[in-house]
Amino acid sequence: MKQFGELFQTADWKIEKHVPAIECPAQVKAGEFFPVKVSLGKEIAHPNTTEHHIRWISVYFQAEGEKFPFQIGHFEFSAHGESVEGPNKGSIYTHHEVSLSMRTGKPGVIYASALCNIHGLWQSQKEIRV
Ligand SMILES: [Fe+2]
Repeated sequence: MKQFGELFQTADWKIEKHVPAIECPAQVKAGEFFPVKVSLGKEIAHPNTTEHHIRWISVYFQAEGEKFPFQIGHFEFSAHGESVEGPNKGSIYTHHEVSLSMRTGKPGVIYASALCNIHGLWQSQKEIRV
């Protein structure tokens, strides 16, 4: 039996459309807010249809020397062209991209995870220096 963490797949986001791309400064100032953008399909587009789409992105920060990570945010994408007319007949779609701001007093690692409704769990990470 696999451990839950082993269900998270990863790869280079430039060649695998399911891997969250984390865009933020590699170096930040202690205690100052900085922008973080997390998206999927930055190089290779991921579908966004009623049948195949990204359900959510969750972002965490593990500060150096701390025992546990903190969740920075969780973002649900709820509109994928559903309609009473049928699948993909609606005109409303949420795009799987989020922007947030955060601050930290310590260096650490941002972890992003995402769920594709048919291709499972994916994750990536980016180191932040302070
Ligand atoms: Fe997918």
